[in-house]
Amino acid sequence: MEKRKLIIDCDPGVDDALMLAYAAAHRDEFDILAVTTVSGNQDIEKVTRNALDLLSFYGMDVPVAKGMGEPLVKKSQYAPETHGESGLGACVLPRSSGNPVDENAVLFIRRILMGLKEGEKADIAATGPLTNIALVLKLFPEVKEKIREILFMGGSLSGGNVTEAAEFNFYTDPEAAKIVLHAGVPLIMCGLDVTEKCTLTRGQILKLCQSGHPVARVCGDMAGFSLENTSDKYRGETSMHDVAPLMYMTHPEIFKGGFHILDADCSEGPARGAVLGGFRWWRNEETEANVFALTDADTAKFQEYLIAALYSVGGAADPSGL
Ligand code: BDR
Ligand code: CA
Repeated sequence: MEKRKLIIDCDPGVDDALMLAYAAAHRDEFDILAVTTVSGNQDIEKVTRNALDLLSFYGMDVPVAKGMGEPLVKKSQYAPETHGESGLGACVLPRSSGNPVDENAVLFIRRILMGLKEGEKADIAATGPLTNIALVLKLFPEVKEKIREILFMGGSLSGGNVTEAAEFNFYTDPEAAKIVLHAGVPLIMCGLDVTEKCTLTRGQILKLCQSGHPVARVCGDMAGFSLENTSDKYRGETSMHDVAPLMYMTHPEIFKGGFHILDADCSEGPARGAVLGGFRWWRNEETEANVFALTDADTAKFQEYLIAALYSVGGAADPSGL
C-alpha cells in the first residue's frame, strides 16, 4: 500500500505528544514529511523543543520546523494547567541533539508541498492553533492544489472547553481558523464533539504508567498529568483530542460525521472562537459545504487502537533511565 504523505503541524502538548506516538506507530502507513510547530499549549520555544525530543524518543527521523510564536491578531494564551509548564506534564525526556531547520514552518511547508512531484498531494494534520496553516494558504495559494486534505483538531459544534462557546485551538487563533475554513481545501474537522469521545480512562492510564515499556510509560505519565490537574480527575478520563485526526486516517470506520457549512466567530464578544454553523442546509447547495465534521467515535475502539499503538513504538530511549 502506498504511504500517505503527511505534514504534522502541532503544539506539543500532552495529547499532541500521544498523537506523535500514534504517528510513530503507523510509519508503514504515513510518510511523514515534516513536523512543524506553532505557539499554543506552550510558547514556541518549548513546543519546538518538545517536538524534537519526542520524535527522537520515539525513534523518528523527521525534520522539524519552528513556526509562528503568536496568533495572527491576539496575544498567546498557554494551557499550563492541562499540559504543565514544559508542555509535557511533569515528564522530562532525554534531550535530543537535533535542532529545527533554518526555515520558518510557513516557508518550510510551502517548500515541501511545492517540491512534491507532478500530481502528488500531501495531507496536513493540524493539532494546534491554525496560525501556520492559515499563513501558508494565504501567502502561497498555489499550495492548495498540492493538499489532499487538512485534518484539524479544533472547534466544536456543541460548546467549548475554554469558554462556553469556544474550543482552545479556535479560541487561541479564530482569525486563522476563519482563513482555513474559507480556503477552499478539503477539510476534516475533529472538534470537541468527537474528541470528547476519544479518551483514556484513569485505569488505562495507570496501567500505562506501570508498564515496563518506555513509550507506553511516558505517555501514561503525560496523560496522567492532564487527568489529575484538571477537572478530568472527577470525570475519571481525559481526552486525547489530537490523536483523533490521525486515527481517522487509519481507522475511519470508527468515526461518524457529516458535511457542514462552518465559519469561525472572530468578534470580541463571548462567542469569540466559536464555530458558526447551523441547520439551514436547505438554503444551500450540498456542494457549498466546506467541512466534513466528525461528531462521534467508538470510544472502546479508540482506546484499544491507541493503547496498542503506544506499546508498538520502539523508541531509542533506555527504559531504566526514565
Ligand atoms: C486542543 O487544545 C489543546 O490544549 C490540545 O492539545 C488540543 O489540541 C483541545 O481543545
Ligand atoms: Ca494540540
